[in-house]
Parts: sequence; C-alpha cells; structure tokens
Amino acid sequence: MATSTIAQDHPEIWAALATVQDPEIKRPITDIGMVDAVSVGSDGVVAVRVLLTVAGCPLKDKITRDVTAAVGGVDGVTGVDLSLGVMTDEQRSGLQETLRGGKPAKEIPFAQPGSLTRVIAVASGKGGVGKSSVTVNLAQAMAATGLKVGVVDADIYGHSVPAMLGVADARPTQVEEMIMPVPTASGVSVISIGQLKPRRDQVVAWRGPMLDRALVQMLADVYWGDLDVLLLDLPPGTGDVAISLGQHLPSAEVLVVTTPQDAASEVAERAGTMASMMHQRVVGVIENMSYLACPHCGPEHRIEVFGSGGGAQVARTLSERFGYDVPLLGQIPLEPSLREGGDVGKPIVESDPTAPAAVELTKIATGLVGRGRGLAGLQLGLTPAGKF
Ligand SMILES: Nc1ncnc2c1ncn2[C@@H]1O[C@H](COP(=O)(O)OP(=O)(O)O)[C@@H](O)[C@H]1O
Ligand SMILES: [Mg+2]
Ligand SMILES: [Zn+2]
Repeated sequence: MATSTIAQDHPEIWAALATVQDPEIKRPITDIGMVDAVSVGSDGVVAVRVLLTVAGCPLKDKITRDVTAAVGGVDGVTGVDLSLGVMTDEQRSGLQETLRGGKPAKEIPFAQPGSLTRVIAVASGKGGVGKSSVTVNLAQAMAATGLKVGVVDADIYGHSVPAMLGVADARPTQVEEMIMPVPTASGVSVISIGQLKPRRDQVVAWRGPMLDRALVQMLADVYWGDLDVLLLDLPPGTGDVAISLGQHLPSAEVLVVTTPQDAASEVAERAGTMASMMHQRVVGVIENMSYLACPHCGPEHRIEVFGSGGGAQVARTLSERFGYDVPLLGQIPLEPSLREGGDVGKPIVESDPTAPAAVELTKIATGLVGRGRGLAGLQLGLTPAGKF
C-alpha cells in the first residue's frame, strides 16, 4: 500500500502514527517508510502493519508500545492489531536515500560548511584521568538541557563509554551501509569503536590507516541526524586518532582533561599542543580528581590526594603557547558515586545530581554550550558558524 493512500484514507490514524518516532533514527515512522498498511474494521479495531528496518530490531518492543498507544488514542478506535514485518532490501535502500537527503555517501556531515553541530573532542595526556567519565557526564548534562547530543567513543584502549551510559551490550543496527547509533535511556546517541571491530581483542592492534577508516566510519557512515553537539572520547596521548580527527574535522574544539599532578599536567599540555598543531581550538582545561572532601570536616576541608595546581598550570601554559585564553573550566572532586555511576551505567549528573562533582560537571557543560564559540584561534573560512 502506498503511504500517500494510507494518509488520504485514514488521516487521523496517519497523524497519530506520525507522532511515533523510530527510536534509533529519531524520525517519525511515517516519514521513513515504516508504515506498510492500515485498515479499520467495522468494530473499530485498527490493523496496522509496521516494517522494521532489520529483523530482530532491538527496539521493536518500544515501537510496538508507542504505535499501540498512539493509534489506540484516536477517537473511535476500540483496539489496535499490530503486526510487524521487515523491510526488503529495496525498501532499506530507499530509506538510506531518504536519510541521506540526496547527499553522496562517505561525507562527514560535521565537516560540511554550514554544519550547525558543535564538535568537541575530549583529550588527555594519559589514561585513567577520568576522560571518559567527564565525556559521558558532559553529554548527559547537555542532553538534560534539551540539546541533541551524540558521543563517539574513539578510545581504542578503553572504549568504556557504552558501559558508562548503560548500553554496554547494545549493538548498533545497520541499515545497508548506514549504521544507527545506539540510543541511551536519556536520549544521548552513542557509537563506540569497540562496536565496530569484529572481535573484542582485535582493536588494540589497529594502526594509522585502519584507525583512520574507523574514525571516518563513525563520523560518516553513522546516521547521527541533526545533532547540536557531538562529543568525542579520544584515546589518551597524541596518537593517530588525534591526527586523523584533525585532518577530517579541523573545526572541532578540544577539551583537555588532567589531574592535579605535575606529571599528568605535562603530558596533558602535549595533547593540547597536538590539537593546536591540527588547527583545532582548545576551549578549556578540566581538572579531575582535584580533591576529596574531608569525611570529618566536610567539603571546606579539601584533601588534595593527587597534589594541586595541575589544571591551572595546563591552562596557563596552553594560553601562553597559543596566544589566546585557554580557561580552566572546572575542578571535579573525587567522588565515590561518580565511579559507581560509571560502573552501573548512570552518569553522576543524573544519578546523584547534587553531589559536588555532579554540580561541577553540570556547570562545565552549561558553560560550554551556553557560551558562543569565540573567533580567536579559529581557522577563519574553514570553520562554519556555530549555532551557539
Ligand atoms: N572524580 C572522580 N571520582 C571518583 N572516581 C573517578 C573520578 N573520575 C574518574 N573516576 C574513576 O576512575 C577510573 C578511570 O576513569 P575513566 O573515566 O575511565 O578515565 P579515562 O577515560 O581517562 O581512562 C574509573 O573507574 C572512574 O570511575
Ligand atoms: Mg576512557
Ligand atoms: Zn578534615
């Protein structure tokens, strides 16, 4: 049945179905060829046939619930008889065309002139400083303000982002050549380099060209839709991924995460300098594990477990080196519930929002997206105007 016929014959039911979004594609199911047939019985029972993009779609229960609720709410409908089918290869190709909007494949949408998505890469000098924890919490806090946020986990050594966002076991759905990012409960979309490799133990052996291909795949083959912000969790250090990213997305901004330790701050400076060499702007420094609130005296007494001053030092050094202000955006204390949140897949900004670490992370997130991106240090002409 052609969709135009369904829309004409059953306008109220079509309108109700148009309120249902595919959870992965985030577009009304009526726009993307998922509504295959509708018929209304004399008893008021509506039979709806919905086509899933792939067999065994992990989100078919949600689609079933949403369609049943939407159609069931139409005046005069006494029941909904939903049947699920699967798109043919031809229908899937058609969907891919629709999603691409006529643009050729293998193009990174965020690198196109006029892209309104803010791309922020999170870098650190070494592992274990909390780069991934910071990334997922910033993503979550930004999404909570109503922004559409995507996260690319490009850390070949860690790829812990899906677990920290509660979607450790989810696999992205693939429609032809196009990959759907995994949606989290709170609306952040995520894709991890760990989800693209064939075997769990294989990825660490990846080098330059393979990594480059994987990064391009995560940016170009993944259907991100219209994002406000895309956050990238980079591998620690100044390696191949940072170079690839600089080549493909020179307009990306970079955040540097460090601990207060001297040694950590020195390697963090190098990560920042690499970004600058790739013509990316370093928007700020975040110091993590800054202090522990004294269990006896409370937060006024800060126990500096890992020393002090590292974040401020990185910010100062990078400001001097680049000739523009690289601010210290915040200092996040050590907080057991931050680690616990990561372990159970609920970022602390959501699971324990009044904890000082969560308050600081939320402050950093709103500071980043609430403020316009400055022009100083940007490659003028290369960088599309931001929407903030
Ligand atoms: N502020 C913090 N307080 C307590 N634990 C933290 C904090 N930041 C990070 N962690 C914990 O430290 C470990 C390393 O953090 P992670 O984000 O994985 O670092 P990275 O991505 O830099 O390797 C994780 O177990 C994480 O939960
Ligand atoms: Mg990590
Ligand atoms: Zn004390």
